[in-house]
Amino acid sequence: MVGRVEGKVALVTGGASGIGKATVQMLVREGAQVVITDMNESEGKALEEIAGTIFLWHNVTDETLWKSVISETITTFGKLDILVNCAGVTGMTAPQNPENTTLETWRQVMSVNMEGVFLGCKYAIPVMKEHGGGSIVNVSSYAGIIGTPFATAYGASKAGVQQFSKSIALYCAQQGYKIRCNSILPGAILTPLWEPFLSGEEREERMNQVVKDIPLKVWGEPDDVAYAILYLASDESKFVTGAEIVIDGGQSAV
Ligand SMILES: NC(=O)c1ccc[n+]([C@@H]2O[C@H](COP(=O)([O-])OP(=O)(O)OC[C@H]3O[C@@H](n4cnc5c(N)ncnc54)[C@H](O)[C@@H]3O)[C@@H](O)[C@H]2O)c1
Repeated sequence: MVGRVEGKVALVTGGASGIGKATVQMLVREGAQVVITDMNESEGKALEEIAGTIFLWHNVTDETLWKSVISETITTFGKLDILVNCAGVTGMTAPQNPENTTLETWRQVMSVNMEGVFLGCKYAIPVMKEHGGGSIVNVSSYAGIIGTPFATAYGASKAGVQQFSKSIALYCAQQGYKIRCNSILPGAILTPLWEPFLSGEEREERMNQVVKDIPLKVWGEPDDVAYAILYLASDESKFVTGAEIVIDGGQSAV
């Protein structure tokens, strides 16, 4: 049977953990070759055991590294069809209410979540257009469409990702590049991202506290998001660009 992304080449940032890792596994299962990038070398390297993948150490805030990651993708696999900008941080280990957020925290969150996405798109577009087009999927958050009084930098960064994704979509369409760009807005997905909040003796209570606010009354799983990324990465979504897909168990509909 032919896979849904058979013969395509993908680059997934933040591919060593959580949603990124599930996306890597799903894209490979559906026939893609995947460049996994992350700052977590041990987890990323371990994924290289999956046939059709390579791991590259990469800090998405570093412009020089973006250039070399893209160029290594072309050297290894010959093209780039799919870019999934998944690397992200919450910055929630430090206060993020408007009065107490430090400029350092604000800049760190913006740098990874927004500048990382900007750089990824900037350097992927030229190689995608050269090889006949592609699909860019930027992982935002439901926090980008609701007020987040205790995660102000995170919410603002993710709202920025959505807006930027629409601009990329329209720019590429206007230029006739055949490159689509969409954003995904996950809700509460159980991944290591939540550990700072969940770890400790009150883990179960905190887990339940999160579920209380979700209409479907369950945590999301990384695959719930990976399935949507797979759809946007594949040609099944050839008429979809500038869109936002919310995967949050109904939380932002309340
Ligand atoms: N888990 C959720 O509930 C949830 C909800 C909404 C949005 N998201 C978004 O989904 C994306 C993935 O999150 P996750 O839950 O899988 O988290 P995760 O912590 O499991 O994975 C994030 C990965 O990004 C990597 N990373 C962090 N900073 C990086 C940098 N500067 N350069 C390269 N890699 C870096 C980490 O090493 C890690 O492997 C993030 O953008 C996050 O904001 C997650």
